[in-house]
Amino acid sequence: MRQTLAFDIYGTLIDTQGIAATLEGWIGERAPVVARAWREKQLEYTFRRGLMGAYADFDTCTEQALRYCCEALGVALEPEQEAELLRRYRQLPAFPDVPPALDGLRADGHRLFAFSNGTKETVSGLLRHAGLEDRFEDVVSVDEIGCFKPDPRVYRHFLQRANVLPVDAWLISGNPFDVIGAQAVGMRTAWFDRAGRGLFDPWGYEPSGTIQGMGELAGMLERG
Ligand code: LAC
Repeated sequence: MRQTLAFDIYGTLIDTQGIAATLEGWIGERAPVVARAWREKQLEYTFRRGLMGAYADFDTCTEQALRYCCEALGVALEPEQEAELLRRYRQLPAFPDVPPALDGLRADGHRLFAFSNGTKETVSGLLRHAGLEDRFEDVVSVDEIGCFKPDPRVYRHFLQRANVLPVDAWLISGNPFDVIGAQAVGMRTAWFDRAGRGLFDPWGYEPSGTIQGMGELAGMLERG
């Protein structure tokens, strides 16, 4: 059956650790640690801004998180290096299993949406750079309503934009907080446990299904 699929972007289709390759040339083996801390701080800023009702777009959270992490971890970047990192963050690579899987899902007749904390402009640019933009019917950004995942309003906004009932919509995300957020408004969910560690928040929510590779999604949807 034809399903509406909302794909999370950062960490699900797009590899945020891809930035470590750029950092490595400047700070060597500390690059993966800094990249991870940056990603965690970026998400922390979205959660905190959500709680405070002090929305600033995801690009701002990303930039401010980078500054904080460099300061905290004693990484001294030149202003040009910081600008270069932020530029590269808009050109992060897709995980290799993503393009063929999206092609297959489209061929099966599913509706594909990008659904992200990122602004429409940034996410569209990211997808264009990764050669994926034409796979999607639309990009739905939380920026349209000025709050972040996992605020229930952003999932309801998605459902409204896609004009679909929660039971007929799937969120596909590698981020457990996103999966729980969607589950809480009645959407179906595929948790993309890429690391295969089974590490999911014990809040009493279960994803509708779990996959470890994007190629497994089509079969999972078929089973319902
Ligand atoms: C996104 C973040 C949550 O793309 O990864 O929405």
